[in-house]
Amino acid sequence: MQRILILSLAVLGSNAASVKKFPDDFLFGAATGSYQIEGAWNISGKTANMWDYLTHNKPTVIADESNADIACDTYHNYKRDVEMMRELGLDAYRFSLSWSRILPTGFSNQINQAGVDFYNNYIDEMLKYNITPIVTLYYWDLPQKLQELGGFTNPLIIEWFEDYARVVFSLFGDRVKHWITFHGPREICLEGYGETIKAPQLNATGIGEYLCAKYLLVAHAKAYHAYNNDFKPSQGGECGLTISINYYPPLTDSEEDKAASELFNQENWAIYSDPIFSEQGGWPKEYSERVAAKSKEQGYPRSRLPDFTEEEIALVKGAADFFGLGHFTAAFVYAYASDYEAGNIVPSSADDTNVGTSQPTTWPTAASSWLKQAPRSLYNVLTHVHKRYSSPVIYVTENGWSTTGGLQDDSTVSYIRAMLTDVLDVLYEGIQIKGYFVWGFMDAFEWTAGYSERFGLYNVDFESAERTRTARKSALVYKHIIANRVVDADYEPENLNITIDEGH
Ligand SMILES: *[C@@H]1O[C@H](CO)[C@@H](O)[C@H](O)[C@H]1NC(C)=O
Ligand SMILES: *[C@@H]1O[C@H](CO)[C@@H](O)[C@H](O)[C@H]1NC(C)=O
Repeated sequence: MQRILILSLAVLGSNAASVKKFPDDFLFGAATGSYQIEGAWNISGKTANMWDYLTHNKPTVIADESNADIACDTYHNYKRDVEMMRELGLDAYRFSLSWSRILPTGFSNQINQAGVDFYNNYIDEMLKYNITPIVTLYYWDLPQKLQELGGFTNPLIIEWFEDYARVVFSLFGDRVKHWITFHGPREICLEGYGETIKAPQLNATGIGEYLCAKYLLVAHAKAYHAYNNDFKPSQGGECGLTISINYYPPLTDSEEDKAASELFNQENWAIYSDPIFSEQGGWPKEYSERVAAKSKEQGYPRSRLPDFTEEEIALVKGAADFFGLGHFTAAFVYAYASDYEAGNIVPSSADDTNVGTSQPTTWPTAASSWLKQAPRSLYNVLTHVHKRYSSPVIYVTENGWSTTGGLQDDSTVSYIRAMLTDVLDVLYEGIQIKGYFVWGFMDAFEWTAGYSERFGLYNVDFESAERTRTARKSALVYKHIIANRVVDADYEPENLNITIDEGH
């Protein structure tokens, strides 16, 4: 014990001047999504959302044919969740609200008190221990009743979402000061409405994702302004959204590959962030011109990417107090000449963009096949976003690594350390990053991967009635980072016992 103490003092002493520290007010947290953890899918007045509908009606879409009917059963285990937050020493916890638990009809005509009570209890339990709740309004679980009316392809989603947002701001805004309207517009729009990777699996390629992008952005802006005008003056919080940004540099220095990289960035994420954060507002230039030109070639009377009106451009521009940034991986992008012939193929975002991507086989791979650890990817993304826009305040709202299970998750440990080293380097360049949230807080229902990919700092035993949670090695390493505000590559927890420290 003494030997260890002397050693660590020596390390600290020699590097004292160069050790980078996170500021005391930097928020360390972990994140979850309502459908992925809550369970209680049909309890106390909650109605089905589109993931309940998908998993019940097309179970073979999910890798292990599972669903989230019970999941982590947070609905009944919320006190244990907060106990885990205290074990980790979290400053903040990011979770989402289930729209159909609060508004069973999807509309604001009827508020479900049992659902409201659950969230009040969860929030109050966090506040009791000084854990800051960061609340996402929408994490992919649209009320099925609203999906049957078209969901995000129906422009009325703009008012449905604003109504819902006003209800939750007024119910919880006395205690919640950090709001995220939407998590992951790309996953909602491209993967859900354009493709079949997420619910509602609309498969309306080249059309659904663009309708969704427009209506989602206007819905976000309406909710943002509702908060800004009618709640912020008395509640004093902030409101933004979360966009997933992976790092997509050009494969070579050629002009073609550089243009391909920019176009791919525009398709993937800037289509959602430029309208809010760019100086000029509106759609990204090259991408919207490309979609308009392709649409014309294909005989459409107007662009498949619907124009914004001048009014909408102004409404959306600047409608965020911060940039919530989710980040996981990277890929190189290169140009290739399409063999596309007008009328020959179904339109799609992929065809509109017409680029290739590749990930080197040398990059470490997670349990999720798409998730590879690339050097400096978060550093590059954060500096890019900072430069592309006018230095927005940034929270890294989601970042993490999957394994197939087990408590000794060394690959997660090295991933989190690398990513937090990137965050520190960016902080020391003077860029405003106010928080970092590990995905995930505990193992959860991972959409079409079911329970086959484990992202949690805590293992969850989905076979036990109690859904027993057990800390992984990454939990102890993260706890050490939070407590000491440094990334210490040499820290090794002595064992996997985790307890609540004084003051938490
Ligand atoms: C709720 O769903 C479960 C399956 O997850 C089912 O066994 C139960 O009967 C349902 N309860 C109600 C009240 O519909
Ligand atoms: C999506 O649509 C295309 C044709 O437009 C079809 O070939 C494909 O099978 C569909 N995918 C699913 C999962 O339905």
